[in-house]
Amino acid sequence: MIRSLLKECINAAFLKEIKDDNLKLYSLLENLRAFWLVSDPLVLNPEWFRTLISDLRDQLALHFALEETFGYLELAVDVDIFLSSESARLKKQHVDLYLEIVSITENIEDALYPDLNERLFLDQLSRFNDFYRTFQIHEAAEFDLIMSATYGNNKRKNISDFEVSNRK
Ligand SMILES: [Fe+2]
Repeated sequence: MIRSLLKECINAAFLKEIKDDNLKLYSLLENLRAFWLVSDPLVLNPEWFRTLISDLRDQLALHFALEETFGYLELAVDVDIFLSSESARLKKQHVDLYLEIVSITENIEDALYPDLNERLFLDQLSRFNDFYRTFQIHEAAEFDLIMSATYGNNKRKNISDFEVSNRK
């Protein structure tokens, strides 16, 4: 009953700090991105992809847990409707993103053992491509939310600024 009165919100400073500190996550994403730029299994070792995707799954579990523990809040006060609905949407999206990366990781195991199933392996590269884009959109939306919570809706930083700074 009381829970239904709580509004989802973010702790902008903590959420930003979690993102700024997670260099390992962004490094893994950059290494994995190489696999759809050069997706020929003869060029890049599928075993390396399996190792990286497995590390990414574990890193995302930690990243989402930190964000939900310290970056998201439930408040029993009036919260801007945009902040509240967007916070709830993005927090909920963590589950879908995590389940997708778990599924890709499991299918990669199936694609490599006992012998390489190239079709299944390439399908997972394609799925990872979609996952990567969805995750980037999620991260950009959270950054937009941080800007809105910090400066208000009228002073939101342009999302493209975030994308550029995130690739440095
Ligand atoms: Fe997130």
